[in-house]
Amino acid sequence: MTPDSLAHVSTQRVDEWRDIDKVAYAYHLAQWLEQKQSTKHFSEFVSGLCAESDLVVDLGCGAGAATYYLSQRHAATRFLGIDYSDALVALAGHFALERQATNLSFVEGDWFNLAPRADVDGVVSLQTLSWLPGFEQPLDAIFSRLNPRWIALTSLFYDGDISCKIEVNEHVRNRSSFYNIYSIPSVARHVAKYGYRITRQQPFAIDIDIPRPANRDAMGTYTVLSRESAGAPETRLQISGPLLMNWHLLVIERI
Ligand SMILES: C[S@@+](CC[C@H](N)C(=O)[O-])C[C@H]1O[C@@H](n2cnc3c(N)ncnc32)[C@H](O)[C@@H]1O
Repeated sequence: MTPDSLAHVSTQRVDEWRDIDKVAYAYHLAQWLEQKQSTKHFSEFVSGLCAESDLVVDLGCGAGAATYYLSQRHAATRFLGIDYSDALVALAGHFALERQATNLSFVEGDWFNLAPRADVDGVVSLQTLSWLPGFEQPLDAIFSRLNPRWIALTSLFYDGDISCKIEVNEHVRNRSSFYNIYSIPSVARHVAKYGYRITRQQPFAIDIDIPRPANRDAMGTYTVLSRESAGAPETRLQISGPLLMNWHLLVIERI
């Protein structure tokens, strides 16, 4: 996809994903070799919805590791991964072919300019919505172009009525990206206008410790044990670079 074809999305980043640098390649390959805890958790969260769907679209599928993981758990469901990075789509296709996956395919596409389809039951999107300039336009595109019965998201959300616009600049990698945190009540108000509602929401409580990466100049999640007060149970905070990562999972369903 050329930068020109994204010209209508003035604030959408195009260079952050277009070229896969060494850090990005290592990240995507590692996911195919060993699924992330968050993907396993998401898979459990959407298991019932995927099982009762014929076609599930994964928007912003990256190199496809999570789409593949879901497709392996639902052999009777077809999965279509869409990403605007041709390099990542090619990588996804290559890895899927190597594993002879049959209920899985990948195409290049722009979430902001989706080709209309009438056969989509569900849409999933993992760790992508917060990396877009906002949530409204991407959700509107899903409703108007795909009209799915359900949408399941994992991204950075806050359960109070506060949203944060965050831009991360990794100066050494020469890379800029959004890490937006969206207020769940504001998402609920928005989807209601289209006849949808949030039917499930939960924070992603990670159950493993992740050490702090040695490279302090690249974003990368690690965990820190914390408790709200003496005697309260310990939980793990997820941190990436200078940011607290408010991972949540949401299901939005047509009323
Ligand atoms: C943080 S990655 C997440 C990848 C994958 N879902 C995962 O969980 O590993 C965000 C992905 O969104 C894709 N993306 C960003 N903007 C997009 C757009 N407008 N249309 C389609 N994909 C987009 C990027 O190319 C990138 O692969």
